[in-house]
Amino acid sequence: MGAMRFSVIIFCAVLCVCSGQLRREAYATVPQLIASSGYPVEKHRVTTEDGYILQIFRIPAGRRSARRSGPSAKGKRAVMIVHGLMGNSGNFVIMGPQNSLGYILADAGYDVWLANLRGNFYTAHKNLTRNDPAFWEFSFHEHGKYDAPAIIDKILTITGLSKVFYIGHSMGTTTFFTMLSQRPEYNDKLVAFVAMAPAVYMSNMKAFVNFFLKSFDLLNVMRRRGYHALSIRPEVLAMFVGSFCTARQPQTDICMRFLYAIVGEDYDLNPWDMVPVLLSSMHPASFRQVEHFAKVAMTDVFTSWEDGLYGEVKPYNLDNVKVPVTILYGENDQLTEKSQIMRLVDQLNKTGVLESVQAGGGWPKFNHLDFIFAKDVGKMVNRPLVEHIGDLYNKYYNE
Ligand SMILES: *[C@@H]1O[C@H](CO)[C@@H](O)[C@H](O)[C@H]1NC(C)=O
Ligand SMILES: *[C@@H]1O[C@H](CO)[C@@H](O)[C@H](O)[C@H]1NC(C)=O
Repeated sequence: MGAMRFSVIIFCAVLCVCSGQLRREAYATVPQLIASSGYPVEKHRVTTEDGYILQIFRIPAGRRSARRSGPSAKGKRAVMIVHGLMGNSGNFVIMGPQNSLGYILADAGYDVWLANLRGNFYTAHKNLTRNDPAFWEFSFHEHGKYDAPAIIDKILTITGLSKVFYIGHSMGTTTFFTMLSQRPEYNDKLVAFVAMAPAVYMSNMKAFVNFFLKSFDLLNVMRRRGYHALSIRPEVLAMFVGSFCTARQPQTDICMRFLYAIVGEDYDLNPWDMVPVLLSSMHPASFRQVEHFAKVAMTDVFTSWEDGLYGEVKPYNLDNVKVPVTILYGENDQLTEKSQIMRLVDQLNKTGVLESVQAGGGWPKFNHLDFIFAKDVGKMVNRPLVEHIGDLYNKYYNE
């Protein structure tokens, strides 16, 4: 009995210590995180044509200038950053001022806008709750058709600028391409585009798709049980992470090994103390999002959803992209694999919009998530990228 109670106390103590360690980055909201890092932050609400309400966050000034003269974005160049599947706006501040793109851009004098796409915890709908199956009937098709355009219009209205610079990671790039395919008039509202690990062709994922969606019919099984999204409650995830994701060596680690099977292995750049935070910052994705990527993988075509996974194949028109595109890829990215990214590169080169192609970090093991979470991502990717953005502004923006 005594021993039993003792174990319970130890167990609780361990949980408390773990959640204590997790608290700041894992439980803080993105605006809280930004403010606690010493940056000014604003929240804005965007309502899409089809009734989704998206919170977006702005870092209007860098850390030092904020202290000296109060935050002001007047006359600054605006950059919007769009997250990937199961990501959120926090992806671009989570690694702190030395590393994260949001802060480095703000410190370099940009007016930074962090987008949230429908589905993540910073989004809602006017008439639907998150328990409503209809809430989850969307993919990157709708992110591109409704969310990104509404966010761009909001930024241009508030800043009075005529154009914004678009940066996307993974599905944030899919959103860009589906947007311009469906609404080419948005070319006129963009300076240029940087695509990190663009997810447009995904034929490398065929085996994975066949296993989970075709043989196993996983998502439809889940649907019949009343689920419509990949969503894990943050407290549950934190507890799981606190118990299982504490190994700090490749030999004993379960969590990263599982994740690396999907995104590519890179133990060298893994920020070990951030692993629990990294995993607990995953936000929900609709089954449709996953299935739409699956359709792209199965058909070898960057196709719209139309009438479903086995329905008509109808390519998005990438010829509609008219703004310069810079592509960054990971040499060891298993999710958006180099061979697939090079298909996109060739296509954009033919239509004359390819600006440049760069290997992320110049590092042979660079993987899909290193663009966000690599421990040296500031020095390896983001600082050179901010210089490049400056060059693109000088080249293409004449106001
Ligand atoms: C929300 O509900 C109102 C009232 O029922 C309806 O008029 C409107 O079209 C709905 N909007 C959306 C986006 O579903
Ligand atoms: C783009 O096309 C030009 C002309 O065909 C070719 O010389 C160049 O190597 C291509 N660039 C890339 C990155 O594929």
